[in-house]
Amino acid sequence: MPLRVAILGPGGVGGMLGALLAREGHAVTCLARPETAQHIQRHGLTLSSDRFGELSAAATGTTRLDQPADVCLVTPKATQLEAALERLPADVLGTAVLVPLLNGIDHLDLLRERYPAARTVAGAIQVAAHRTAPGTVRHDGSMAAVTLAPGAEQLADALRVTGLDVAVRPDERGLLWAKLSFLAPLALLTTSLAAPVGAVREQRSEDLRTVVSEVAAAARADGADPDPAATLALLDPLPAGMRSSMQRDAEAGRPTELEAIGGAVLRAAERHGVDVPVTRRIVEDLRARLR
Ligand SMILES: NC(=O)c1ccc[n+]([C@@H]2O[C@H](COP(=O)([O-])OP(=O)(O)OC[C@H]3O[C@@H](n4cnc5c(N)ncnc54)[C@H](OP(=O)(O)O)[C@@H]3O)[C@@H](O)[C@H]2O)c1
Repeated sequence: MPLRVAILGPGGVGGMLGALLAREGHAVTCLARPETAQHIQRHGLTLSSDRFGELSAAATGTTRLDQPADVCLVTPKATQLEAALERLPADVLGTAVLVPLLNGIDHLDLLRERYPAARTVAGAIQVAAHRTAPGTVRHDGSMAAVTLAPGAEQLADALRVTGLDVAVRPDERGLLWAKLSFLAPLALLTTSLAAPVGAVREQRSEDLRTVVSEVAAAARADGADPDPAATLALLDPLPAGMRSSMQRDAEAGRPTELEAIGGAVLRAAERHGVDVPVTRRIVEDLRARLR
């Protein structure tokens, strides 16, 4: 049965999932800034993907949710979340399923507080997608995997049908920290060195190992079951030229997700009395350097 899917912040992640879901006949409504909303209303969503091919699909573009949805995907960047939520009134969202796919962990509490009637289900996405123009997304490579906590079964089924890899994982903290354990060391060190991951492995290997183990300690104290050796094994074979999105944002002078990624690790460590000195030094240095 077609789902009514609202997408708040249809950029790289939201635009890609919206295009794939709309192609399967789901009713996709994008909640966006006026220019983007207008473009999507006129031209729909367009995806160019190594894995899914070239596709365009009709979607509704609007600046504010004004009719019920079954599911709402929350996909702005962390720095844009507060402003974007103005487009999602709690009384219209009602008891819908709310699935944030932002990196980080702190947004879940924010959403649950703001939308107490909704069913907020943790999610994470592994993909390399970027918005090239309003409503238009480029997806590079074949990686496209969504992990959801229980409670969003209809969405999980719908995403599976689009061809995405979809997993449901019972432990919410584990799900969120699995992504952050990999991302935080990668993002913090590439941004700190202003160099891709190959240079980090060569020049900051000690820091890389230490940050991986500090983040794992914070994750463990926060209720997850991290595996730092597995994280290092994932970081090892990454292409030497690979950069992180935090690094790209920093280089372009855009606001970064430093607080949602590095700040979240420090806050969790502090909450649980875990010492993370190297991660703290890097985050504080970046806080001083970036906006
Ligand atoms: N991209 C990836 O490959 C990837 C992979 C894994 C995780 N993530 C995570 O997913 C999240 C989203 O990343 P992204 O790369 O998709 O970001 P993005 O391409 O910048 O998309 C965010 C979208 O939010 C929209 N937006 C900004 N302010 C808004 C507002 N006030 N109201 C409504 N919409 C607003 C922007 O709209 P406009 O189009 O109008 O500018 C933009 O299209 C981040 O937490 C990121 O770390 C991304």
